[in-house]
Amino acid sequence: MWKPPERIKYQTTVARWPTEGEAVGSRLYSPLSSPNLSLEQRTWVPAMVPWRASEEGDVTQDVIDWYARFAEGMPGAIVVEATGIRDIPSGPLLRISDERYVAGLRRLTDAVREASGGQTRLLIQLIDFLTIRRRPQPEAFFNRFLDVTATHRQRLGMKQQDEQAVRQRLLSLSDSELEDVLSPRELESLRQGYRERVTDTHLPTVSTLPTTLPVLFAQAARRAQAAGFDGVELHYAHAYTMASFLSATNTRSDGYGGSREHRVRLPLEVYEAVRAEVGEDYAVGCRFLSDEIIATGSDVDDACFFAKEFALAGMDFLSLSRGGKFDDAKQPKVGWAAYPYTGQSGYECMPAYLSDERGPWGRNSEPVSQIRAAVHSAGMSTPIISTGGIHSFDQAEALLAEGKADVVGFARQALADPDWFQKVRLGRGNEVLLCRYSNYCEGLDQKHKQVTCELWDRAALDSPDAILATDGKRRLTAPHWSP
Ligand SMILES: Cc1cc2nc3c(=O)[nH]c(=O)nc-3n(C[C@H](O)[C@H](O)[C@H](O)COP(=O)(O)O)c2cc1C
Ligand code: SF4
Repeated sequence: MWKPPERIKYQTTVARWPTEGEAVGSRLYSPLSSPNLSLEQRTWVPAMVPWRASEEGDVTQDVIDWYARFAEGMPGAIVVEATGIRDIPSGPLLRISDERYVAGLRRLTDAVREASGGQTRLLIQLIDFLTIRRRPQPEAFFNRFLDVTATHRQRLGMKQQDEQAVRQRLLSLSDSELEDVLSPRELESLRQGYRERVTDTHLPTVSTLPTTLPVLFAQAARRAQAAGFDGVELHYAHAYTMASFLSATNTRSDGYGGSREHRVRLPLEVYEAVRAEVGEDYAVGCRFLSDEIIATGSDVDDACFFAKEFALAGMDFLSLSRGGKFDDAKQPKVGWAAYPYTGQSGYECMPAYLSDERGPWGRNSEPVSQIRAAVHSAGMSTPIISTGGIHSFDQAEALLAEGKADVVGFARQALADPDWFQKVRLGRGNEVLLCRYSNYCEGLDQKHKQVTCELWDRAALDSPDAILATDGKRRLTAPHWSP
């Protein structure tokens, strides 16, 4: 992963935890009463893919155990990981792309309700993504994947030779010679792996996204409702299809790209289709970016505009993340796909302990505060969820007290210690396992390995409740804690 050049080392510490009385009387532990979204407390565990689903995208017992363990900590809400809305093979990524997934998802919602004693609301994040391929072997790329064109022939001075000779010649060229022959997209496919973009409107599947996606999202949301989820979060963040429509890099000329008004059009149409399907009294919100953190990407001004549009359209919550784009991803190894959390934008999405003078904590807080102010200035009070490096009670409480957020998201801190919410509420904050922001978990995610936390995955491996990862060396959920 990209690291700030300053490489200042930070250690997570917390100067003070609240007493039980202070916690119980705090804003953080006060309820949120919003028309479709009522939370017992203003804490939120954002979506985190743990790679526990089956190869067919089904809920497994490991998926159930994972979310039930978070639920034991009784946060206000948990958002189930990015879940695919298309019925296509996507490895062990959870899917909601057909009726056959509903029964498994129902078992998941039942388990979370039971483990939290009904205290935790459960939402599910709905994702669409475009095709991305692994970085190819140069031989495979030049012999099979590349379409040999007249441009290649002309640039190589090989107008008459047969195609195989052209392919062989291309394979023999150095990197810098290839730059004079291949187009930027072909070079990217060679160096990073082929990646589809929303601007590839010459592809029928991409040009028709404005017609296909609203239906796919709406059907997935209906299944989520049938499975007993309390709401859905439309994934409009990071490197995926809907975020790419919102992106300032979206230059589609069919009314769905270019100006902000056009870029937000499909996300609004998707929302409207979802709303029409699930009815007026079901929680529907989205996760999007406070800033893309890429050259020529959308910034916080764009995010303020989008937030107002989403709020005015009637979304029930807005959850803000940051960065996480393919545009600045590092070159993957041959045989691996690009991972959108390896560049600077990836760093801003999940800042780590080697940081700059601003440190890894709360980097998203100020932009989110601006976005919340913009929503309020439009006369709306849609709940805003702020996430990024939050691990202490004082940090979270300050965000609420200063009007910078309505709900506070704890992703890695909840992974490090799913009992954070209980421990702090009971005045036992000094028992919290503090996230080190090492991104060991994110390294596992990058390799599509079962995600665990280094703070607990080797603890009490022989205890009866320890179910081990496929490598046999790590436990899959945090050891139990009881008050
Ligand atoms: C292992 C892992 C998986 C993640 N998966 C998702 C995901 O499915 N959807 C999403 O919107 N964000 C995902 N994220 C990003 C987190 O939700 C969160 O925005 C990020 O970790 C920053 O918050 P934090 O500093 O509290 O960890 C993931 C993060 C981690 C560490
Ligand atoms: S592995 Fe654990 S300590 Fe390290 S960043 Fe992830 S949650 Fe935090």
